[in-house]
Amino acid sequence: MSVSQKSATDQQTLLSDMMRDLAVTDSSGTRHPPRRSTVLRGDDATGATAAATAGAAAAPPSEFEARLAEKSYEISAQDRKELRSDTINYDAQRMIGHGSFGAVFLARVAETNEIVAIKKVLQDRRFKNRELQIMRQVSKQPHPYVVNLCHHFVTKGPKHDDVYLNLVLEYVPETVYSVQRQYNRNKENFPIPLVKVYMYQLSRALAHIHGMGICHRDIKPQNLLVDPARQILKLCDFGSAKVLMKGEPNIAYICSRYYRAPELIFGSTDYNTAVDVWSQGCVMAEMLKGSPLFPGASGVDQLVEIIKVLGTPSKEELRAMNPNYQEFRFPQIRPHPWATIFRASVPADAIDLARIMLSYTPSRRCRAIEACGHPFFNDLRSPTAVMPDGTPMPQVMFQFTEEELALAMPDLVQALVPPHIPRRPPPSSIAATASITPEPSVAGGGYTSSIGTSSTRSAPDTSRSRGEGGGGGGVEGGATAAAASTSLAAP
Ligand SMILES: Nc1ncnc2c1ncn2[C@@H]1O[C@H](COP(=O)(O)OP(=O)(O)OP(=O)(O)O)[C@@H](O)[C@H]1O
Ligand SMILES: [Mg+2]
Repeated sequence: MSVSQKSATDQQTLLSDMMRDLAVTDSSGTRHPPRRSTVLRGDDATGATAAATAGAAAAPPSEFEARLAEKSYEISAQDRKELRSDTINYDAQRMIGHGSFGAVFLARVAETNEIVAIKKVLQDRRFKNRELQIMRQVSKQPHPYVVNLCHHFVTKGPKHDDVYLNLVLEYVPETVYSVQRQYNRNKENFPIPLVKVYMYQLSRALAHIHGMGICHRDIKPQNLLVDPARQILKLCDFGSAKVLMKGEPNIAYICSRYYRAPELIFGSTDYNTAVDVWSQGCVMAEMLKGSPLFPGASGVDQLVEIIKVLGTPSKEELRAMNPNYQEFRFPQIRPHPWATIFRASVPADAIDLARIMLSYTPSRRCRAIEACGHPFFNDLRSPTAVMPDGTPMPQVMFQFTEEELALAMPDLVQALVPPHIPRRPPPSSIAATASITPEPSVAGGGYTSSIGTSSTRSAPDTSRSRGEGGGGGGVEGGATAAAASTSLAAP
């Protein structure tokens, strides 16, 4: 009996057995335990711990998590005292997030009452902080869908040598993760019009940073901030981001497990920004499905989950991901039909976009800027389009930065900006238009045919692991108004 004829359970067992023999390693050749990822949000009314999906399943709660779960997100007197820079006083209100490498606080600028988020990360003096470096680079070219760095300052910790970097960021109240969780609790689906708007904005954010040569390397729902009131998504957490240089190796053990591109699982060290597009495809599929598409229980099991959906990679696909695995004999699993993965009401063009993003061969995935031109987003470009809540479609949705357009073909540029939209103003005014006005109180806290068709198209000439030590920065190598009739409101 061929593998493809076996039952799903048999296939799973067989695949798992085969995968155990497959040495999936990082660039240093060592097997790593899966990276755990946890997110806690202070706006959770129950005060309960929200453990992020990726890798959290088997891990017991840390002391910190347990403390937060049983009590509240109140911040210590020490933190309250320390979150002050020489020039600006920040009145820290409460903890709103906690990740593997730092805590995030909601704070008020004493002088202006402005609400900000402060991400406090313990610095490892031995390494340059890449997160700050990248955020400063990104903030020089502000983008409406990338979180803005307002300021930064350094503070001393309680231990003699401890130094903390404090990144002062614009505050955005929710994440795709917290919004999805809310829909799940209410037994509702993420409305397709919202998936559309958020995925479009994420494509733009990625196109922008990719155009700057930056790869994010940790795209996941927890790192996508959203303001549901204004239907704005902002990419955050550049702790794993890196400017990828052709010819320079990069760490393979990077990105949270469920969202990790297969070439990373295969240990590739010369990957490119297509790894972010894979992760975006995973996030989009999760929004459409209501649960992670590839919920791998371990690093190797992640590959099993992917093969169960995409089928066994061909020799060519394997070569494209990592030539070293060409000779490995995989059990032959047939791909699962895409349409059967999602509920019947999910539109075919949404599935098509996710499918393109989730190609084994990195160069066959669409680029982020190409994703913006996919038919799934055509509704947004209609002169009568409105936002999901019925408000006018903001012009900023179609005002692209030079960086975004850097990787677009001319015909795509034409298709991306609908004729009824005035040409692009200077970048500074673009960012200002979409900036989020802080809440006064903090009490409660024309698709181009190039997509997927060109196997010769080279990846951008740009090609984290916080999994390997080095702390906060991630270290490698040491160092308009439209008339409202085409409503996008949920069906
Ligand atoms: N600007 C912001 N406004 C509001 N909340 C934020 C902001 N930045 C971060 N957060 C919250 O804090 C959480 C952790 O922040 P961030 O992802 O930057 O830290 P991290 O330690 O690098 O996380 P991880 O390593 O787990 O991905 C986010 O998932 C989000 O819930
Ligand atoms: Mg994060």
